[in-house]
Amino acid sequence: MCGIVGYLGDGNVYEILINGLKRLEYRGYDSAGIALVSPEGKLNVYKTLGKVSNLEAYCRDKNLTARAGIAHTRWATHGEPSDCNAHPHYSEDGRLALVHNGTIENYQVLREALQQHGCHFSTQTDTEVLVQLIEYIRTSNSCTLIEAVREALKQVVGAYAVAIVERGNPDTIIAARKSSPLVVGIGDGETFLGSDGTPFIEYTDKVVYVQDDEIAVITRDQPLKIINLDNEETKVDVKKLEFSIAQLEKGGYDHFMLKEIFEQPSTLTDCIRGRVVDNAQRVLLNGVFDHKEKFMDCNRIIVVACGTSWHAGLLGKQLIQDLCAIPVEVEYASEFRYSHPVITERDIVIAVSQSGETADTLAAIQIAKAKGAFVYGISNVVGASIPRETHSGTYIHVGPEIGVASTKAFTGQVTVFTLLALAIAQLRGTLTQPQIAEVSGHLQQIPHYVKETLKLNDKIRQLSLIYTYARNFLYLGRGYSYPVALEGALKLKEISYIHAEGYPAAEMKHGPIALIDSEMPSVIIAPHDHLYDKIVSNVQQVKSRGGSIIAIVTKGDTVIRDLADHVLEVPDVPECLTPLITSIPLQLLSYYIAINKGKDVDMPRNLAKSVTVE
Ligand code: G6P
Repeated sequence: MCGIVGYLGDGNVYEILINGLKRLEYRGYDSAGIALVSPEGKLNVYKTLGKVSNLEAYCRDKNLTARAGIAHTRWATHGEPSDCNAHPHYSEDGRLALVHNGTIENYQVLREALQQHGCHFSTQTDTEVLVQLIEYIRTSNSCTLIEAVREALKQVVGAYAVAIVERGNPDTIIAARKSSPLVVGIGDGETFLGSDGTPFIEYTDKVVYVQDDEIAVITRDQPLKIINLDNEETKVDVKKLEFSIAQLEKGGYDHFMLKEIFEQPSTLTDCIRGRVVDNAQRVLLNGVFDHKEKFMDCNRIIVVACGTSWHAGLLGKQLIQDLCAIPVEVEYASEFRYSHPVITERDIVIAVSQSGETADTLAAIQIAKAKGAFVYGISNVVGASIPRETHSGTYIHVGPEIGVASTKAFTGQVTVFTLLALAIAQLRGTLTQPQIAEVSGHLQQIPHYVKETLKLNDKIRQLSLIYTYARNFLYLGRGYSYPVALEGALKLKEISYIHAEGYPAAEMKHGPIALIDSEMPSVIIAPHDHLYDKIVSNVQQVKSRGGSIIAIVTKGDTVIRDLADHVLEVPDVPECLTPLITSIPLQLLSYYIAINKGKDVDMPRNLAKSVTVE
């Protein structure tokens, strides 16, 4: 969702910015644009609706010489996707160009006030209000650009990451952040900006994460300067980026999503490494052991998350309740933040987020912290806002996830929840040592079982051809398989645009059963667990109404084999680990159905990878 790139240095500004935008395409966007400041100080802005490749085509005959520049991919919030509403936006006098990620909540009030002072607007965006406000303050107060930016940002309510360039000044870029990600890359005589480190990873791994209410002043031949809104200089804290360029490429696969599905044996190995120790007798999770007293004392856990991460949270609930006997609630972060939640100091709030930047999850963390809860983060992106905002946490370490539909991050999150539940059980003594060793031992084998499960690939590709043109799908599961059903349905709708509903299998008879006919396939997740006999009855209920059934079953299953139209057999693992295996065929099924329909699986329409607005 919206991506920012910036560059100041002696390299090819245009190419660095365009390649950087391509790296950010995975975040989801509808238009793109670029502002270049030529060596003579001329400010050229080019922007187009659609892909970055459209912008490149548009720029082909333009003047692209530059010493500095900023660029943007936009995911529309205020104003339809169009050439005109794309960023960068100009101040009315054409002196400033600004790109923005986030939303200015009080833009209407500011816009009306500026109109009364004679400003005219040419777009419907909240962003144009901000750039006009900065320019208005600068001219009416006769102050410097930095002073005007500070003053304007004080007046703004909302979330932003912004970058600004100025006509007549090819040697400066000003950038600022509040609740939206922004990273500065420090090169050798050159400086980069990005919504994350992906646009500039081949140039430098030295980064500075701009913090809320900070302004980064990037000036040619001078060290990076960071100030706050009160003009106090803050320490420039240089960190190391923790991923490589190879991780951002498709590695021979047709799509990032397929690559990420097939990477899971190795990403789960990375996720578990160093955490299951002493011959699988013990789990070591520093985020828990460094805060032992919090986990000993806690009497409730609340999980907050969005999307796929919320589904992982539902599995976390089952794991923690089963292994640690602590009550767990799971909330959509967007609901939690406005629900006046009752939280005590003995609550632990677990925030789950692949990107570590989801605006609603960040807001939920602030509320939980303000009410005195201990907040634990489960994230993938090292150094992102959520791991920085939480008291403690665990990275899933599955590497950059580029496909918009989350796959390896989901299994990484579920793996971390398993480790977390084992670590808490170890601390609180809710499992015996042999029980811990048993689950840990099987968890260590999970990458191997995932590899086995991936051998279903060809069978699933064939199967997908039969169901490509179904208009609706039902996904059913019970116990640990219910969140898997929700996640399977979400995967299918995200990338194939087929309507799919996930349901607890027994709840089907209270509504969705009315939809079942020969046109409506049901995907039933039915591994050998303590609810197996129950779900067999649900399979029969679908069958007797003429519905076709694709069942995910444990190897050697005979009962469901006779009832279902198609069975996909997966390795036998302990019940609490089944989601790590049963989710794999569902990822492949949605992938192949979307491919058969000719959909853009890595960048599905309207979706964003990193949802930095509420
Ligand atoms: C978007 C993505 C989903 C993701 C959700 C939460 O909707 O498309 O794949 O599950 O955001 O993102 P997070 O980064 O917080 O896990």
